[in-house]
Amino acid sequence: MENNHPVATKKSFSDSKIIERANLLRDNDLYFFFRAIEETEASTVTVKGQKQIMIGSNNYLGLTHHPYVKEAAIKAIEKYGTGCTGSRFLNGNLNIHEELDHKLADYLGHEKAIVFSTGMQANLGALSAICGPKDLMLFDSENHASIIDSSRLAMGTTFKYKHNDMSSLEELLESNVSRFNRVIIVADGVFSMTGDILKLPEVVRLAKKYGAYVYVDDAHGIGVMGPQGRGTMSHFDVVKDVDFNMGTFSKSFASIGGVISGSADAIDYVRHSARSFMFSASMPPAAVATVSACVDVVTRDPSILENLWSNVAFVREGFKELGFYTYGSQTPIIPLYIGDDMKALQMTKFLESKGIFATPVLPPAVPKGEALIRTSYMASHDKKDLARVLEVFGEAKKIFEIPNHLH
Ligand SMILES: Cc1ncc(COP(=O)(O)O)c(C=O)c1O
Repeated sequence: MENNHPVATKKSFSDSKIIERANLLRDNDLYFFFRAIEETEASTVTVKGQKQIMIGSNNYLGLTHHPYVKEAAIKAIEKYGTGCTGSRFLNGNLNIHEELDHKLADYLGHEKAIVFSTGMQANLGALSAICGPKDLMLFDSENHASIIDSSRLAMGTTFKYKHNDMSSLEELLESNVSRFNRVIIVADGVFSMTGDILKLPEVVRLAKKYGAYVYVDDAHGIGVMGPQGRGTMSHFDVVKDVDFNMGTFSKSFASIGGVISGSADAIDYVRHSARSFMFSASMPPAAVATVSACVDVVTRDPSILENLWSNVAFVREGFKELGFYTYGSQTPIIPLYIGDDMKALQMTKFLESKGIFATPVLPPAVPKGEALIRTSYMASHDKKDLARVLEVFGEAKKIFEIPNHLH
């Protein structure tokens, strides 16, 4: 039978703003996304056959290539296979998942912990479970995208306070606590773009004053901050005052996955309500074993964190001498203010031509006119390589006339 239905046209994606922008960058050879890494030894990588010093990674402890960590991952595959093919709630819960839950609870200093398949899922699942229809989430304006998305998913109300600004937070607490059932203050422990540290003792003080919960996303703090890398809560000695601590394994812990820790009843509530936990397959065995081995290494071998902080101090001083504005960073994330988007991209190209892999950060990830190059350092970086990085940045600063201060 003949088909007389008219053929409707589908709206294409090619004229969307984002694709227009990507094409413009590709046409000008300034597209630095999805770079394919052909080989990696953590602090150096090979891209298009060229060896580059990696200063754009979150592998702070450099443990992705540590022999003890690799061996643990290989053994886990031999024992449990490559995947769990189901959620922890049903068929995908291995004894090593539970062992890791306990190990991380001990390490972080909380009563209980549960591991998720990614950090993003940990935030989405936990925050949407915790923040119900009558609840309020107060979050820092520079929080990570996963927290922004969590606030969209949660049934409760969300208000933003100014970045790390405690009077802005207090104003919101004062005018809102009586209107809601639970109030949850949510903030990154170490902010992912600027590398600054949350004023956690102040947040804790305000939370106590107004009866609010504290939820810290410590993706960039776990493994790095505090004694033996136990995180930002340990760094400030306020573990017992933080109700929920979230961490990821996609940075210091050399793998993939996430964790939420807190009191036994709160974590039991999360594991029976967080949809991204219940309806998504569990962390693969090799990832579980990797994270467990990373915790062993960072707690037993002090030289790892000593190397990291010595490298960070070396580079931070170097950038200061060169006159870069580094946003007062006190962590392994050292952002360098560039200003103009085009300059940030051209400078990234220059760095690449000199064998340095760095990442530009452009609006909307940062405010307009505040493009930066986000650099980050590892325990495994070689001082000679870092000296070379500083030398090349020194040349670039002159060529691209990078300002010494934020405009
Ligand atoms: C602050 C912060 N929270 C959460 C995440 C998400 O973690 P994951 O990579 O494990 O999904 C990231 C990763 O970029 C992050 O930087």
